[in-house]
Amino acid sequence: MKKSNWSRRQILGAGLALATAPRLAITAECENMMSKTIPSSGELLPVVGLGTYNVFDVESTPAEIELRRKIVELLTRSGGSLLDTSPMYNRSEKIIGDIVGSGTDRESLFLATKVWTDGKDAGFRQMQRSAELMQTNVIDLMQVHNLRDTALHMETIREWQKSGQIRYSGLTHYTAGAHAALGREMKQFKPDFIQINYSFGEREAEDRLLPMAKDLGVAVLINRPFQSGALFRAVSGKQLPDWAEEFATSWGQFFLKFIISHPAVTCVIPATSKTQHMIDNLGAGMGVLPDKAMRKRMSDFFASI
Ligand SMILES: NC(=O)c1ccc[n+]([C@@H]2O[C@H](COP(=O)([O-])OP(=O)(O)OC[C@H]3O[C@@H](n4cnc5c(N)ncnc54)[C@H](OP(=O)(O)O)[C@@H]3O)[C@@H](O)[C@H]2O)c1
Repeated sequence: MKKSNWSRRQILGAGLALATAPRLAITAECENMMSKTIPSSGELLPVVGLGTYNVFDVESTPAEIELRRKIVELLTRSGGSLLDTSPMYNRSEKIIGDIVGSGTDRESLFLATKVWTDGKDAGFRQMQRSAELMQTNVIDLMQVHNLRDTALHMETIREWQKSGQIRYSGLTHYTAGAHAALGREMKQFKPDFIQINYSFGEREAEDRLLPMAKDLGVAVLINRPFQSGALFRAVSGKQLPDWAEEFATSWGQFFLKFIISHPAVTCVIPATSKTQHMIDNLGAGMGVLPDKAMRKRMSDFFASI
C-alpha cells in the first residue's frame, strides 16, 4: 500500500522540513513509522495519523490546500496514512478531496470519516456526500460520530462493507461520560474500530474501555491526545525530564508515546495545521516506545507538575 516511505533522516533533510522543526533522534535500527495490527483483518496501520477538526476547516484557496497537502505529504512519506474527518468538521472533507484531487496517491491514505445525522436515509446520503467530497470510491473507515443513531447507521455501514464501498466500521466519542454507552454499543455492534479520548489529562479509558476493546479484538483510535492543546499549556515553561530523552525529544512526543505504548491502542490522531508540529508528531511513531515501568514513571512525573 505504501510507496517510497521516507526515513526520519529524509524527512528532516527534505525541503519540507523547516529549520524550526524539533530535533528527532536518528537511530539506524528503526527509521520508519511503527505499525500496529487491525484485529479484524490483520492489516497493519501506522501508529500516528492526523486529526482534521478545526485545522482543515478552511476555504479551498490554493494556499490553504497547499499547506495541508504538505502536512499530508509529511505524514505519508514517513509511512503514516490515516486522516480522520467528519461531516461535522465543515469544510474538512472537501479539503481532503482537494488534496486527493491534486495528485496525492489515494492508495497512500487511509481515509476515516463519520456519519453524524439522524435517520437511515439521511445517513446514507451523508455517506455518499462524504465519498464525493473526498473524491474517493471507497471509504476506509466509516464511524458513527458520537453514537448518534448507531443502530440505523451500522446497518448501512454493513451493507456498504459488503458492496466494498466501506472497508471498516467504527463508533466514536470524545467524553468519559459516554464511555459506558460506547462499551455497551461496542459489545452489541462489534465494530472493527472504536475512537475515544485518552491522554495524560483524560485517563478514564484505561479502566474499562481499552481492556474491553483488546479483549473483543477491536482496533482503537485515540482522539484529543493533547486535550485539544491543554496539555501543552500545562507544561508551558517546563523542561522535558532528562530520562525521557531516550524516547522523546519534545513534549508532543512525550504525550503521544504514552498513548501509543498502551497495548490496546492502534493509532493516535493528533490534529495540526503546522508542518513543524506534524514533523514533531511523526517522531512519536518512530524509535523506542516506553515500557510498563517507564509509563508509570511518565505518569507519576506528569501528576507531579
Ligand atoms: N467525537 C469524535 O469523533 C471526536 C472528538 C474530538 C476529536 N476527534 C478527532 O481527534 C482529532 C484530535 O483531537 P483534537 O483536534 O480535539 O485535539 P488534539 O489533537 O488533542 O490537539 C490539537 C491542538 O494541539 C496543537 N498541536 C498539535 N501538534 C502539536 C505539537 N507538536 N506541538 C504543539 N502543539 C501542537 C494544535 O495546534 P496547531 O494547529 O498549532 O498545531 C491544536 O491546537 C480531531 O481533529 C478529530 O479528528 C474526534
